Amino acid sequence: MAFIDIHGLCKSYPVGKGRFSALKNVDLTVERGEMLAITGRSGSGKTTLLNVIGTLDTFDAGTYFYDGRDVGKMSDGEKAALRASEIGFVHQDFLLMNHRTAAQNVAMPLYFGKTPYAKFGARVEEALTAAGVPEQAKKRISDMSGGQKQRVAIARALAISPSLIIADEPTGALDRTTSDEIMDLLVELNEKDGITVIIVTHDPEVAARCRRAVKISDGEIEV
Ligand SMILES: Nc1ncnc2c1ncn2[C@@H]1O[C@H](COP(=O)(O)OP(=O)(O)OP(=O)(O)O)[C@@H](O)[C@H]1O
Ligand SMILES: [Mg+2]
Repeated sequence: MAFIDIHGLCKSYPVGKGRFSALKNVDLTVERGEMLAITGRSGSGKTTLLNVIGTLDTFDAGTYFYDGRDVGKMSDGEKAALRASEIGFVHQDFLLMNHRTAAQNVAMPLYFGKTPYAKFGARVEEALTAAGVPEQAKKRISDMSGGQKQRVAIARALAISPSLIIADEPTGALDRTTSDEIMDLLVELNEKDGITVIIVTHDPEVAARCRRAVKISDGEIEV
């Protein structure tokens, strides 16, 4: 069984009195250490699929095994524990606390995991260093550039030493050069540290930097 092992997955949303099928019979396997791009038009179901993979959202039918564990049978608490120990999330709009420092943001996921409080400082420093912004620790997010913010967001994802990084349009708010630099960082984390990376992107140049790309249209994976 693959690290991420999804078969026949369906997901619908309630719309009015009916339901809208956002994911239709999706099969997707991702091996540990892979770097995968998910592409497709707006509204095709990319974020929905990423949220299911990240266990943030439920599904209606099919199976999803994460590292051999049956996600469909997990309680909300078990899924929260899985996310807290395994999965780092990166978002187009960074989703950082603007009035807090980089270090405070990066420490945030540690409060939900099992890291002893005494180790928070070292973990935060390591993560900021790995993301290339160690000197920004005490700076407030509101005083940073977009590229610096995304590095801090990646550091926050790294704080828990994740097996998987999930990124929804991580370069969507950045210019070309900064986007390339953020991709350099994600590729390095994948190649050097063996972190599995799944990126949703509209940008063909970003998709081309991933080892594999799958396209989704109208909720179906194109083959
Ligand atoms: N909470 C929701 N309730 C109802 N419909 C939803 C909900 N979330 C998403 N959808 C619908 O599901 C479909 C897929 O949405 P999704 O956000 O996954 O698309 P996407 O591929 O990420 O698009 P984009 O590139 O614009 O971010 C869309 O038609 C959207 O309108
Ligand atoms: Mg989306």
